[in-house]
Amino acid sequence: MIKTEKSSRESVTENVNLVLPSHANALGTAFGGTIISWIDITAAICAQRHSSSICVTASIDALNFLSPALVGDTVSLKAKVIYTGRTSMMIHVDVTAQNLKDRTPRKCADAYLTFVAIDEQRRPKAVPTLKLESDAERIEYELAAKRRESLLAQKAQPQSYNP
Ligand SMILES: CC(C)(COP(=O)(O)OP(=O)(O)OC[C@H]1O[C@@H](n2cnc3c(N)ncnc32)[C@H](O)[C@@H]1OP(=O)(O)O)[C@@H](O)C(=O)NCCC(=O)NCCS
Repeated sequence: MIKTEKSSRESVTENVNLVLPSHANALGTAFGGTIISWIDITAAICAQRHSSSICVTASIDALNFLSPALVGDTVSLKAKVIYTGRTSMMIHVDVTAQNLKDRTPRKCADAYLTFVAIDEQRRPKAVPTLKLESDAERIEYELAAKRRESLLAQKAQPQSYNP
């Protein structure tokens, strides 16, 4: 039976990567694009687990790189659904880097992404409502609702370039 309501616990997705020399720039730190790709895939799996559907990335919002990840570090990503609309889901991804010698985790990046669930005809399809289980989740949900409002208002603005 398809669930109409799901908690974020049911789709939390964790992923660990090792920064290899092939991921690095001339400074020996991971390329932003590599980290973005890890963020996107971890969030996509989370959205697909929540919706039990194929999902596409509609937007990546407020992506911040806070500290570099060095070659040899492990990079851990944790993705969690924080908001659901009718067919869309907002996912928060937290990224931490860890040096294998001292093992102190450093916050490396975080991001908010919106995914849309897609049916066989590639049309947006309804997703289970997010079941909020704590006050922290309720606050996060309210903040995400505001974030989504400003995202959609921005999308509605006519885009023009007047040099
Ligand atoms: C994302 C996409 C499916 C939305 O299609 P659409 O025709 O605009 O569909 P709708 O207007 O019905 O919007 C569907 C949902 O997406 C949300 N949405 C659309 N564009 C969005 C954006 N830029 N940011 C956040 N949410 C967005 C809408 O608010 C709506 O949410 P809701 O159902 O929860 O209220 C379509 O724009 C698309 O296919 N984009 C390309 C996706 C892609 O190729 N991604 C990269 C590879 S995965």
